[in-house]
Amino acid sequence: MAGMGNLAVACLFLSFNVFYISDKDDQDPGDVEGSMLGLQSYWDASYLEDLANFQEHGHTGEIWFGADVMDTVAVWTKSLCNIIEGKIPSGQDNIKSEVNENLFSNYPVLDVGTGNGLLLQALAKQGFTDLTGTDYSKGAVELARNLAARDGFSSINFLVDDVLETKLDRKFKIITDKGTLDAIGLHPDGRAKRMVYWESVSNLVEPGGIVVITSCNHTKDELLHEVEDFTKRKFGKENVDEGARDASEIFRYIDHVRTYPTIMFGGIEGSQVCTVAFQRV
Ligand SMILES: C[S@@+](CC[C@H](N)C(=O)[O-])C[C@H]1O[C@@H](n2cnc3c(N)ncnc32)[C@H](O)[C@@H]1O
Repeated sequence: MAGMGNLAVACLFLSFNVFYISDKDDQDPGDVEGSMLGLQSYWDASYLEDLANFQEHGHTGEIWFGADVMDTVAVWTKSLCNIIEGKIPSGQDNIKSEVNENLFSNYPVLDVGTGNGLLLQALAKQGFTDLTGTDYSKGAVELARNLAARDGFSSINFLVDDVLETKLDRKFKIITDKGTLDAIGLHPDGRAKRMVYWESVSNLVEPGGIVVITSCNHTKDELLHEVEDFTKRKFGKENVDEGARDASEIFRYIDHVRTYPTIMFGGIEGSQVCTVAFQRV
């Protein structure tokens, strides 16, 4: 299992204020234009290559942000289930307590932009059983299905679906996103598309359910501001001023992962990755 310290920084797009970290060490950081990751054509080509590598060598493809982050997200997401059950009031920093598996195992979970689907396998190992992964790239879905079948997780459901124009007609208790909002933000119309993303996710998650976002492109505070901005746009600025805010809240910040290693960059200390949880009000 790769530790964060061992990870090669595959892409470092400073012009987009992005650290892209993966476990691939054969790419030159300057090789890829940052905005390419916002285009479906980039992902389609990338997963075709990953599929060929899987078929020839059994490779899984990228684990975005590394295996340690993936495992942390899976364990941490499970720990949040007490909040869904209303056992611990939101906002209280006490979510590491034991979770009764009978409570959460059948919670419907959706991983948007699932890629190779390995995060869902990690969630299955934590005891989740109702797992769906979507990606707009057919190659990703094929790769994820192949890997799940090979690894004994064929009950995970994988579908081709664009989260910005979703065809899904059910709601989920938990939505996870590892690197997908980052990729969407790198599209030339990234700002607008990120707002569409929040609208879509707000419709896909059940009231009281949670959204767990892992990003290397935005800090926790930037994600909080973005959610506030989304709320203001949705309800109109005047209704979301002080005092009226609670009534028009869509997502409530719950907590973020506090255990990621920090680095110094440009004299500022920060994490390369953040994972933030919001509860749908
Ligand atoms: C950085 S990769 C992360 C993949 C996976 N979540 C992981 O952690 O390994 C971003 C993923 O988002 C997918 N994606 C980007 N925009 C999407 C959209 N609008 N709808 C669905 N999937 C999307 C890409 O195809 C790609 O698989």
